[in-house]
Amino acid sequence: MDFEARELAETIEQNGADASLISILEEIQGRYRYLPQEAMILVSERLGVPLSQVYSVATFYHAFSLVPRGRHTISVCTGTACHVRGAVQVLNRLETGLGVRPGETTRDRQFTLETVNCLGCCALGPVVVLDGEYEGQMTTKKVDKLMKRSMHQAAGESDD
Ligand code: FES
Repeated sequence: MDFEARELAETIEQNGADASLISILEEIQGRYRYLPQEAMILVSERLGVPLSQVYSVATFYHAFSLVPRGRHTISVCTGTACHVRGAVQVLNRLETGLGVRPGETTRDRQFTLETVNCLGCCALGPVVVLDGEYEGQMTTKKVDKLMKRSMHQAAGESDD
């Protein structure tokens, strides 16, 4: 298990009694890249807030995830303009290369693949966003290069 109750208790203590539920959840999300169930229970107990309320906040905000996410996020735009320009082929290549479907995370927890709707830069379509960096006019060839580069980078981070 990658969740440490003691660490979480310290996080809550550090945030102080007045800390908001959201700020504590942000802290946990930042540390683990998702909100482990055990953490939600502990937050509920420590703050004296009903567990249903903790879940309600956690599921309301898109920034929070209840399932483990990768260190890196790859988003493929599947909006209409990107779709007609080949987003499906781009997405298929990423699915094959990473071995995951949209919404899933690779086993090594390096990459989370997701689809998004129009990003507002349709002229660049098909668009892929890797950790906030936009890559336009994507082709399967460019996807291969992008994956090679990011996997190489991820391997370097793992060695740290
Ligand atoms: S449809 Fe992809 S950016 Fe608009």
